[in-house]
Amino acid sequence: MDRNVIEDNESVQAQAKLWNLTVGYLKSMSLKCALDLGIAEAIDNHGEAMSLSQLQSTLSIPTTKKPHLYRLLRILTHVGFLVEQGTGVGTEAVYDLTPIDVFKGVHSLVDVGGGTGALSKGITENFPHVECTVLDLPQVIHSIPNDGPVKFVSGDMFSFVPRADVVVLKWILHDWCDEDCIKILQQCKEAIPSKEAGGKVIVIEKVIGTASTEACHETHLLTDMVMLTAFTGAERDELQWQKLFSDAGFSSYQIILAMGIESVIEIYP
Ligand SMILES: C[S@@+](CC[C@H](N)C(=O)[O-])C[C@H]1O[C@@H](n2cnc3c(N)ncnc32)[C@H](O)[C@@H]1O
Repeated sequence: MDRNVIEDNESVQAQAKLWNLTVGYLKSMSLKCALDLGIAEAIDNHGEAMSLSQLQSTLSIPTTKKPHLYRLLRILTHVGFLVEQGTGVGTEAVYDLTPIDVFKGVHSLVDVGGGTGALSKGITENFPHVECTVLDLPQVIHSIPNDGPVKFVSGDMFSFVPRADVVVLKWILHDWCDEDCIKILQQCKEAIPSKEAGGKVIVIEKVIGTASTEACHETHLLTDMVMLTAFTGAERDELQWQKLFSDAGFSSYQIILAMGIESVIEIYP
């Protein structure tokens, strides 16, 4: 009897996994849809969480599509882009931005090794008050038109990082050994003001041991093999990250979001 229950559970889990693999691309499509509709910008401008009806009347959505907005908000809440509050009886739920919206209240930001600027462009579209600069190698920067809201600067992150309130390192540190990571982090620390003045480095990376599913954990282990064989780097667990931040002279850190495979870590000077 018990055996049957386990087998049922296992086959249901396997079936769910297959479904999620098949239609999982809809998570990133939902995020793109949220960016296109300007949901984060609407909530940011509003200054506090917004209800479904407020979002329906603020966002530019065809009338026929408005009744479906709650379905988009529901998946955005599930993937951690929004947080739903006040779902008690008789109260209308309101949607707020989650810590993924770490760029709220930030005036300037440098995306170190930001490539062609996809992240920075997304940030300026959603938070137009944030001045974004991308630092990357000359061979990457030279072909990018420097005429939009995002400023492109060519340089070497081991020698110099332009000054800003916040420095972002997305998928940079896992390419490098500890010694090189410390050099990069020290340059980032030089570029930001004190913690009290809002200075911080935002690291977007994997943290081994934090995955909520077996599939995500396997991704961490497999990409670590890529780092081992193709680069000098590694995927790191929390203790390894903690040591790296402390060796680079940072006073504290906080994992503010673990979303699927990636984590967002804030580190403070
Ligand atoms: C794995 S990619 C990450 C790109 C981007 N951050 C992203 O999330 O898609 C690493 C980036 O670091 C840049 N890079 C490598 N060495 C660099 C250096 N010494 N100074 C500045 N950028 C560098 C590469 O050109 C590349 O764009």
